[in-house]
Amino acid sequence: MSSTRGALVVVGSGPGIGSHVARTFSAHAFKRIILLSRDPSRLEKDAEFIRSATPSADISTLPIDLSKTSDIPAALAAVDKALGNTPLEVVLFNAARVGPSTLVEWPMEELELDLRIKVTGCYAVAQWAIPKLLQVKDNLKPAFLCTSGSIYKDPLPEVFSLSVCKAGQHNLVHSMHKKYKDEGVYCALVVVGGVVADENPECNAGNIANKTWNLYEQRDDHEVEIIDQ
Ligand SMILES: NC(=O)c1ccc[n+]([C@@H]2O[C@H](COP(=O)([O-])OP(=O)(O)OC[C@H]3O[C@@H](n4cnc5c(N)ncnc54)[C@H](OP(=O)(O)O)[C@@H]3O)[C@@H](O)[C@H]2O)c1
Repeated sequence: MSSTRGALVVVGSGPGIGSHVARTFSAHAFKRIILLSRDPSRLEKDAEFIRSATPSADISTLPIDLSKTSDIPAALAAVDKALGNTPLEVVLFNAARVGPSTLVEWPMEELELDLRIKVTGCYAVAQWAIPKLLQVKDNLKPAFLCTSGSIYKDPLPEVFSLSVCKAGQHNLVHSMHKKYKDEGVYCALVVVGGVVADENPECNAGNIANKTWNLYEQRDDHEVEIIDQ
């Protein structure tokens, strides 16, 4: 096992879970980090947040809009270019459009858009990532991690569109866990069972990031669930 880490790629970085997970991994020697989302100026703030804890972190920020399925390969080709000779070691798929969706007023097109971001988007990133992760299984600890929510199994009608997507996404990553666990790539889900807020003892972004790190290190299940009692 190499003492040098490969790269962490966060797809759907933001001020909450995305940048907190990147900061936690940077503190565990993941110095090469690539952050993706739609807003380049916001991504720079995420990068500064990580550098404030790990000044030596080498961070790139790149645009991706997962709702535009046909644009995803070009966005991931830009990640390949940014990676250069650094092997990909961990992917966090974290992007989501979060908000209310009223049964049965929610337009079909909006449900399709949500599915594109969270299910097709996750699959597209997995198609890109898994072959690279398999290549480094003998000397790194490759993983594909995905942020989920307890609504994947206990849906909330007022956010039914997000719930449907989380169910599909969970099923996809669980399949990936079953297929790749014996092939050396760990695929798993971080299941957040409540609204993320600083005041929550469990469901705060820092604690979720620590739980994500523990999941990555221990690799003993396909998910960890984080809930405030
Ligand atoms: N926050 C909660 O209360 C909560 C609860 C349970 C589960 N979760 C899950 O946690 C994950 C997000 O964590 P977070 O809420 O703390 O957010 P976050 O990590 O702060 O940011 C997530 C980022 O996803 C990006 N994104 C949204 N749509 C996108 C698109 N079409 N293409 C690319 N990127 C996109 C957004 O950036 P841009 O707008 O710049 O693209 C956003 O900043 C999601 O999987 C969510 O379902 C959140």
